Amino acid sequence: MQTTLILLKPDTIERGLIGNVISRIEAKWLQIAWMKMIQLDNDIINEHYAHIADKPFFPAIVKYMQRTPVIAIAAKGKNAVLVVRSLIWATNPLDALPWTVRGDLALNIDANIIHASDSEENAEIELKRFFKGEGIFEYSRLIDEVL
Ligand code: CMP
Repeated sequence: MQTTLILLKPDTIERGLIGNVISRIEAKWLQIAWMKMIQLDNDIINEHYAHIADKPFFPAIVKYMQRTPVIAIAAKGKNAVLVVRSLIWATNPLDALPWTVRGDLALNIDANIIHASDSEENAEIELKRFFKGEGIFEYSRLIDEVL
């Protein structure tokens, strides 16, 4: 069982797509193990995007990610990291297949709806970053036992 970190970015909040995106995560049978709305400060953005801090588009990302609060979700399930990356597809919505989150809902790379951890190792780091000290819920669902 894996847990991965998902961020619903400001364009998702502004466009009223929170339910749409969360529905897709739930419909895939992943378990929502934690969820919170958070206004990102510069420190957490600098840490989260340290690997692209030297890119020309970095200042635009900082501004975009602070436009509204974001929603951080810990999603749990078998192969959750890969499964969520498949659900959201390519970073650039132009390369994202239809029936995926970015393929259906995003038009530009600067506003691509969602972030999800790209490896199990990064998921662990990112979950600690966003849910620090808060502990992710452990609960069982009847459906997991009967199917
Ligand atoms: P994300 O998965 O959150 O990780 C890095 C983010 O940088 C990416 O999604 C995009 O939102 C953002 N970004 C903006 N412009 C670019 C670009 N030209 N190339 C790659 N990423 C970009």
